[in-house]
Amino acid sequence: MKKTENQMLVIFGASGDLTARKLVPSLFNLYLAKQLPPNFVVLGVSRSDLTDGAFRDRVVYQSKYLEGKLKDLDVHLAKEFADKLYYEDLGEGYDTEYGKLRQRVEALKQKHNTSGNIIYYLSTPPTLYETIAQNLAKAGMNTQNNGWKRLLVEKPFGYSLETAKELNDALHKYFSEPQIYRIDHYLGKETVQNLMVTRFSNSIFEPLWNRNYINYVEITNAERVGVEKRGGYYDRAGALRDMFQNHLLQIVSLVVMEPPIGDHAEEIRNEKVKALKSLRIMEDAKTLYKNTIRGQYVGSVVNGEQVKGYREEEGVDPNSTTETYAAIKFYVDNWRWHGVPFYVRTAKHMPNKVTEVVIHFKEPHHQIFKDSGVHRENKLIIRIQPDEGIMIKFGVKVPGQGFKVERANLDFYYSSLAETYVMEAYERLLLDAMQGDATLYARADEVEAAWEFVDPILDYWKTGKDVRMYGYAAGVWGPENADSLFEGTGSWRNPGENLADDSGFCVIC
Ligand code: BG6
Repeated sequence: MKKTENQMLVIFGASGDLTARKLVPSLFNLYLAKQLPPNFVVLGVSRSDLTDGAFRDRVVYQSKYLEGKLKDLDVHLAKEFADKLYYEDLGEGYDTEYGKLRQRVEALKQKHNTSGNIIYYLSTPPTLYETIAQNLAKAGMNTQNNGWKRLLVEKPFGYSLETAKELNDALHKYFSEPQIYRIDHYLGKETVQNLMVTRFSNSIFEPLWNRNYINYVEITNAERVGVEKRGGYYDRAGALRDMFQNHLLQIVSLVVMEPPIGDHAEEIRNEKVKALKSLRIMEDAKTLYKNTIRGQYVGSVVNGEQVKGYREEEGVDPNSTTETYAAIKFYVDNWRWHGVPFYVRTAKHMPNKVTEVVIHFKEPHHQIFKDSGVHRENKLIIRIQPDEGIMIKFGVKVPGQGFKVERANLDFYYSSLAETYVMEAYERLLLDAMQGDATLYARADEVEAAWEFVDPILDYWKTGKDVRMYGYAAGVWGPENADSLFEGTGSWRNPGENLADDSGFCVIC
């Protein structure tokens, strides 16, 4: 097990939702699992006027996210954890002098003997990332002569290729690349990491993992919810920026990548960058028209309840052309994947919450059992969430005369590893950053390569003459037009909540 050195975690934007919803609960779990170092403190920083006590109340004692856990816990343990949390009010804002902040950090360092190692976690609006990095540098708080300094950056990382490059350049003025950790919480999911293990720790998959055996690859990310209370943010982002550029292209890179030479961060990240750079960029309007579909949910009745259309959501422009559904077909230009189409879709207000990768294998070249009457294709389904697991669909003989073939399932469920504690994505990512392991963080060139692929689609959707926005009723599997991407050579698998259920069935009440 790696060692976690004594350190301090400074969270900028600490009065925001992420700190209470994800960061503190993850730290709390790490604390209960005895994974925090002996000398450790959290300093929450933001503009809200809070005392240490009020901050502790908000994110621990009165937190709805910890309620369940605190109920059964010894009060001394809860107090021991809460006592590690402090708060500093930045006063005017993030562009003020950080002298006072520096003094507070120094005082806490002395008091808790945290030895000068600091993670700065940027959980503010992205427009402040550069300002904070610059002000930390001005106050001499980025220097590593007395303990390491790391900068953790939340998503979104840029709004386009240009802005992502600008942000990388800006941060690099004050922190070197090895000091910067760009979060993509999908990389913290066990099942996403398991994509690499499935591929590279078995000898039965990799020989088939190429154009000779794979017909097409399908990735679905569906959410039941709409934009909820995030209409203001979402309307400026849309599905392509919110999910596809980061989370889904990360999954794509793990499916596409070549075997790395080892499991060190740079070895893995080098291969992921290469994979992202091999995605064929779609530049002309005709290709973009044929291979990209966007949609927006419209009002509907779901589970007996009236659901608002996207344009009626709070914070959303009533004439908005922001997509809540995106389906993209693309190719990968390299030896392994030449000619294999990838179909990737993401959307809000689908029938189920589900994320999965489906590898559709080619049919056997020579058919002996021609009259079996079933689809002969084998599928490997890698379920990222929920009902996490892996399933292979293959043909078996139906007992009786002749050779009637049916599809059977060979499956593995993560829940069968009941004894093993599965860390939440943020828990894993925080612990990795605390230990200086950047494997599950996106590198600058990785983020830029992903934007390079996405930028032309965004431009086309913004300015293309023939581009359409298809409506779909909240609660259905998106616009029918998305089927046209397959051009008659396949179809979307509309997965149920359970891995084994592929009937297109969904729970409606
Ligand atoms: C976030 C997006 O990054 O991921 C949200 O901003 C989305 O819009 C969320 O709902 C989905 O994450 P998960 O882990 O629930 O699949």
